[in-house]
Amino acid sequence: MKIIMLGAPGAGKGTQAKKIAQKYGIPHISTGDIFRANIKGGTELGKKAKSYMDQGMLVPDAVTIEMLLNRIQEADCRDGYVLDGFPRTIPQAESLTEALNAMGDAIDYAIDVAVPDEAIITRMAGRRACLGCGATYHIQYNPPKQEGVCDVCGQELVLRDDDKAETVKKRLDVYHQQTQPLIDYYKKAGVLAAVDGTRDLEEVFQEITAVLGDASCQ
Ligand code: AP5
Ligand code: MG
Ligand code: ZN
Repeated sequence: MKIIMLGAPGAGKGTQAKKIAQKYGIPHISTGDIFRANIKGGTELGKKAKSYMDQGMLVPDAVTIEMLLNRIQEADCRDGYVLDGFPRTIPQAESLTEALNAMGDAIDYAIDVAVPDEAIITRMAGRRACLGCGATYHIQYNPPKQEGVCDVCGQELVLRDDDKAETVKKRLDVYHQQTQPLIDYYKKAGVLAAVDGTRDLEEVFQEITAVLGDASCQ
């Protein structure tokens, strides 16, 4: 099962993608997490990505597409994956469609997690992220067991550099201009499913599993 998560920054793509990955036994691939791991590791890719990310802008397509297409050819992707944060532009979507077509394959579901901009701003201020394993928390809606510490790997939780209110506004602008058109792209492809992302995160997950079905794909 090959799934794409669509939605504004902070809509809950990462939160839901992790739950999907766990339930269906497929890898969760977040381009944002890959970039953040590279920034933390001080790699060339990380240096390139950081300047764009800190400004709330997209990392150039050429860099992002190559990285993602390499990742989905790894062995753990054989039975599918859930993509979180990719594609984010029409050229990215087209490259993915072409690469899959060439393998006689296609995306099965594009899930749009819909949340209005006002709700996003509140969510981002309370988000805490683990740079160790990519886990995401919210101080109010989804707190870790111990304040400031990741439940999964025990590392310290941080406020992401790009979660400052001003940068969030910029990211929302970029989303509306460059990423929102993908909703139509995947509607035309006949694989779009929209869910109401303003509800409790367990309710959102139930709506998603109703779309994906109960069977494990393994
Ligand atoms: P990325 O890391 O993908 O960030 P994003 O898309 O802006 O999305 P977020 O991770 O901020 O939000 P999310 O939807 O995952 O929400 P979450 O589940 O955490 O990308 C970062 C940057 O990297 C980009 O700006 C760009 O520069 C670059 N980049 C990445 N991919 C790229 C690409 N393909 N091309 C070019 N550049 C790229 O939830 C948010 C908060 O809300 C959390 O605190 C969570 O606990 C809470 N929450 C979640 N669901 C609920 C709920 N139902 N109710 C209440 N609270 C909730
Ligand atoms: Mg995320
Ligand atoms: Zn962690």
